[in-house]
Amino acid sequence: MSTLNVLLLGSGGRECALAWKMKQSNLLGNLYIAPGNAGTAALGTNIPALSPTDFDAVGKAAMELNIDMLVVGNEDPLVAGITDYFKGNEALSHIRVVGPSQQGAQLEGSKDFAKEFMNRHGIPTARHLSVTADNLDEGIEFLKQQKAPYVLKADGLAAGKGVLIIDNLDEAVAELREMLGGKFGKSSAMVVIEQFLKGIECSVFVLTDDKGHNALLPVAKDYKRVGEGDTGPNTGGMGSISPVSFADEVFMAKVRERIIEPTISGLKQDGISYCGFVFFGLISVEGEPYVIEYNVRMGDPETQSVMARVDEDLIALMLKATGEGFGDNIKVKEDARFAATVIMTSGGYPGSYAKGKEITGLDAVDGSIVFHAGTKNDAEGRLVTSGGCVLAVTSLGESKDAALAVSYGNVARIKFDGSYCRRDIGFDL
Ligand code: AMP
Ligand code: GLY
Repeated sequence: MSTLNVLLLGSGGRECALAWKMKQSNLLGNLYIAPGNAGTAALGTNIPALSPTDFDAVGKAAMELNIDMLVVGNEDPLVAGITDYFKGNEALSHIRVVGPSQQGAQLEGSKDFAKEFMNRHGIPTARHLSVTADNLDEGIEFLKQQKAPYVLKADGLAAGKGVLIIDNLDEAVAELREMLGGKFGKSSAMVVIEQFLKGIECSVFVLTDDKGHNALLPVAKDYKRVGEGDTGPNTGGMGSISPVSFADEVFMAKVRERIIEPTISGLKQDGISYCGFVFFGLISVEGEPYVIEYNVRMGDPETQSVMARVDEDLIALMLKATGEGFGDNIKVKEDARFAATVIMTSGGYPGSYAKGKEITGLDAVDGSIVFHAGTKNDAEGRLVTSGGCVLAVTSLGESKDAALAVSYGNVARIKFDGSYCRRDIGFDL
């Protein structure tokens, strides 16, 4: 059996988990990660100087390294059109790409595009109005018609910071003006105002084959706020759990019928090429699923819990997705156990924080997988922190609490100056 050389783009905990899962496959030849982190360096070869959005450089590396499959971990290169770049370049077009076309990536790259798509295809989502400087008055009227809290979203990518939920109408109007005035640069030249939905969220992932079928991955829930009880500012994610108790058979049947299938057929109808992961950020409102957002890649830190439970060869799944297709809608085999991921962050994150703190105790970890995010090896070869989200400590257990106990036990063994984690991951399940 011939093996595949894979180039994985990204440098977070998500990419570390994808690399870890791909590494288990007999189908993997050489694995390269660009730019990667200290964790991915142990699973493949990092290319630290290669920027995922420098397409010429990525293409050149793919040729030199004889890459067979490009896996795009993060959204920026997708929204900028890396898949079209590869498909449209004679020397690269033979390379399989896991990641949608630029048009498909607009599901994440433009909230207005995503809302229009959902409305066109009858996919349940919050009511909305898209506002620019030209219809500000209409926007203010729409805000007045909503009940508090008020939801304002920058249309474009804003590194997870572009969503504001505001209790007071006057403040919401002021924020709307500020956003349109450039608070998030070009990303908020258009603002999507949404009806606030009250419920509990979960993350559903599929891998699509661009032939009308998809593979459903384990469902997960992430914890975005920095503080216990879901308080304080949003972060890149403080933890995740899989499976999700309320995402039972009844709920998932509604998700498949009302959300996944119309999304996949909607892409086809609209003539949008999409081979890659679709991340449905869902909210259950009294048992009825609504789409809060689409992302066009896996979630972080959901991927860490999801990959721990995927009981199939990830490369084989990606080969099917980029090749002959799945033939039908399938459900990826899942480990029956629970996975719990606890993120260890740098003190002060998501505000300002120190970097370069030495990390010790990883050799004492027992029973967890430690995925790296913001880590690197310094000039002396020490493992040090290099970001806000530092490590993801993922464990499997017979229950959510058993899995969490193992993760927290290992969190206590890992040391770096100022380390912080939430103690209540999974509290609401
Ligand atoms: P997003 O970046 O669109 O996922 O939004 C970030 C977070 O804001 C979501 O995970 C939700 O917790 C919250 N959110 C976004 N839109 C809504 C909405 N329409 N109603 C309630 N909460 C929302
Ligand atoms: N966990 C949410 C995200 O990856 O955007």
